[in-house]
Amino acid sequence: MANLGVNIDHVATLRQARFTPYPDLIEAAKICEKAGADGITVHLREDRRHIQDRDVYSLRKIVNTKLNLEMAATRQIVEIALRVVPDEVCIVPEKRRELTTEGGLDVWGQRRRLAGVVNRLNKKGILVSLFIDPEPKQVRAAKEVGADCVELHTGTYAEAKGKTKQLKELKKLKQAGKLAVKMGLRLNAGHGLNYQNVRPVVRIPGIEDLNIGHSIISRSVFVGLAQAVREMKRLIKR
Ligand code: PXP
Repeated sequence: MANLGVNIDHVATLRQARFTPYPDLIEAAKICEKAGADGITVHLREDRRHIQDRDVYSLRKIVNTKLNLEMAATRQIVEIALRVVPDEVCIVPEKRRELTTEGGLDVWGQRRRLAGVVNRLNKKGILVSLFIDPEPKQVRAAKEVGADCVELHTGTYAEAKGKTKQLKELKKLKQAGKLAVKMGLRLNAGHGLNYQNVRPVVRIPGIEDLNIGHSIISRSVFVGLAQAVREMKRLIKR
């Protein structure tokens, strides 16, 4: 069984499409928690396309489970994280023109800079997770820079066409996960997970949190947010 972190970015996407005060993010977070979410995740992007600074501060006040802030390790966003003090941050790579986070973080390639960022966040009592592709080199680098946790990027698994390719990607996730657990890192996963593909990921040994957004918010259009969360929670419980 894994914990469910519901990413509510796309509630804000809808709001920002018209710059209306609704749908209200605070209400969304409360509904998710009431429906069984174990955490609320938001990504404060540099381009502020969905989540705004004020959202993060407001959510900090009302989230009772766990607030996980996804962010790029830029100076400005790190300063915001240090002021907000979420329970956990997940450092992601960010490109301005991407539709969503495209690949994992190259921890190995920026070890020194990331070690400094991890240290500053840790000193504030914030747990730090690094969003990486399932590669042993990146897992080792995550340990080396002092991260508490890795979040394995499940995007390639989610997009793999056909059973063979999917199983190959799943194997990579399992192997990277095994190494992470062996090295004493907490293990999370996310990106592109939906009601159809989540089950095999739940079974990866050592997996703790799954951060899922787009599929849940999409489903909520038809069945409501509480029901969409409950359905996902049921799937990852078994
Ligand atoms: N985890 C991380 C690190 C992400 O960047 C995202 C997307 O913001 C997610 C999980 C959630 O992905 P999805 O919206 O595809 O479920």
